[in-house]
Amino acid sequence: MVDCRLAAIMSGSGMSDKADQEITLEAGTHWMCTCGKSANYPFCDGSHKGSGMGPEKLELEEPTTIPVKRPSDGE
Ligand code: FES
Repeated sequence: MVDCRLAAIMSGSGMSDKADQEITLEAGTHWMCTCGKSANYPFCDGSHKGSGMGPEKLELEEPTTIPVKRPSDGE
């Protein structure tokens, strides 16, 4: 089950309703890309620099499967 913090991130990025794949994240801290420019999407790789955007910190207490779709894909 996706926790509320992750649901908020996915909802804010528009990913939750248009996901085309799922990934399972390990427990721990993850920095999630919100700009869609990362070559390592959905994880931030620093490509957001200069865009005025930044990553969202996601802390998971257990392995969690999340929906993933790059915000700019296809539409
Ligand atoms: S590369 Fe997208 S937020 Fe960092």
